[in-house]
Amino acid sequence: MTAIPTDPTANPAAEPGRLAGRLIAVGVTGSIAAYKAADLVRRLRDEGADVVVLMTSSAIRFVGEMTFAALTRHPVESDVGGLLPDQRIGHIVVADSADAIVVAPATAHWLAAMAAGLSGDSVTATCLATTAPVIVAPAMDGDMYAHPATQANRTRLRDDFGYTIVEPDAGPLASGQSGRGRLAETGEIVDAVVAAIGASPIRASDPAARPPLVDEPREADLEGRHVVVSAGGTAEPIDPVRFITNRSSGRMGVALADAALARGARVTLVAGHVSVPLPQGPAVQVVHAARTSDLGEAVRAAMRDADVLVMAAAVADFRPRAIADRKLNRDAGLTLELEPTEDILAAIGADVAALPSGARRPYLVGFAAETGSLDRAADKLRRKGVDLLVANDVAEEGSGFGTDTNHVWILSADGDQVDLPLRSKRAVADEIFDRVVRALDDRDVAAQTDRVTQEKQA
Ligand SMILES: Cc1cc2nc3c(=O)[nH]c(=O)nc-3n(C[C@H](O)[C@H](O)[C@H](O)COP(=O)(O)O)c2cc1C
Repeated sequence: MTAIPTDPTANPAAEPGRLAGRLIAVGVTGSIAAYKAADLVRRLRDEGADVVVLMTSSAIRFVGEMTFAALTRHPVESDVGGLLPDQRIGHIVVADSADAIVVAPATAHWLAAMAAGLSGDSVTATCLATTAPVIVAPAMDGDMYAHPATQANRTRLRDDFGYTIVEPDAGPLASGQSGRGRLAETGEIVDAVVAAIGASPIRASDPAARPPLVDEPREADLEGRHVVVSAGGTAEPIDPVRFITNRSSGRMGVALADAALARGARVTLVAGHVSVPLPQGPAVQVVHAARTSDLGEAVRAAMRDADVLVMAAAVADFRPRAIADRKLNRDAGLTLELEPTEDILAAIGADVAALPSGARRPYLVGFAAETGSLDRAADKLRRKGVDLLVANDVAEEGSGFGTDTNHVWILSADGDQVDLPLRSKRAVADEIFDRVVRALDDRDVAAQTDRVTQEKQA
């Protein structure tokens, strides 16, 4: 993927504005004023909005998509026939999640296409597919704007479609002539967006329902490290056709593997049952493991030269005491006797604790899925001998199994506890690796200091 530069002028400390929590789609069409859309995007973000940009193919000849991707952190939606990486239809996702669509600058051609309902580009298709308010700021040569065709299209958008028209200003134009056709001032367009939305509720506050974000450019701070991640649920057979398992989708583990790869790590992903695509590439090895015992074996094998283990798999706690070698007959009824499975993480934690002092210790991260209360998490951290425990209440809305988001508490062996509000699983993964990287770097410094001290004493 092309590296997207971050916006150097972004101000994360800005006060929440009139569009806080909103998603605004900015449609850019092929006008000489297309460059002014970059300022509009900035001003909307200053008002607190999450912004996504839609472009026609003509608009791309005036301003590159990368400018808008860097300003918004969302890929630009410019291919009406294209799918998002997760296979959703981009313009429908924007149409369904945006609180407003503002088309600025809007060309004469676009006004005509929209008036006729010709959905041949992303901007028109999204406007056709949405129930959100649409604000249109035309920009063109004065005679083009005054032409009866353009005026009829403008009137149709306003009167028949209910769109807000932000009238162009009069003044000198790019053609060298003077007339009414200059794109309205940015502040006036922003005010029109705020007014059109009014006090309506936010349409899609869940980031998973919005267009995806581009990956943050990451420092390769896990380069040279081997990270082992387990993901998904394990399944314990009852007979040759049946098994007991849990609701894990593998999303959290896959987000962790993706995050570690983006930070330059070599990754071994030990995957149980997962329902999401697994990462591919030269830096990742995927090992499939169906049962808890398979997963334990695969994790142990990968741990031989691992720097980090993140156990995000939802490992079955119980398995049938006996597995029938033939399919069980329903007529006989069924009572299952279950026995506990091995606690893989606690066993690895004990092995690591028993390592001789001075030996290279892998950093251990565990996950604790709880329902109702997280009181047991601190106890789990100690019992399993891990450096970091990530606990979540899987019964909470937007958190846990099958969702793209998670609300977690990160507890560290040194007593630190952080409550991370709801965010994407990828963002949770990066919060975890921020801590892992700091701990590994601290250990390297301590080991280096020990070596120097020993050399001096020798
Ligand atoms: C240098 C240049 C500037 C243009 N500026 C405008 C403009 O400000 N407004 C407009 O309606 N058309 C303008 N056009 C014409 C549009 O780019 C053209 O009609 C195009 O097909 C619009 O496509 P779109 O509406 O799909 O983006 C310009 C063309 C050129 C070459």
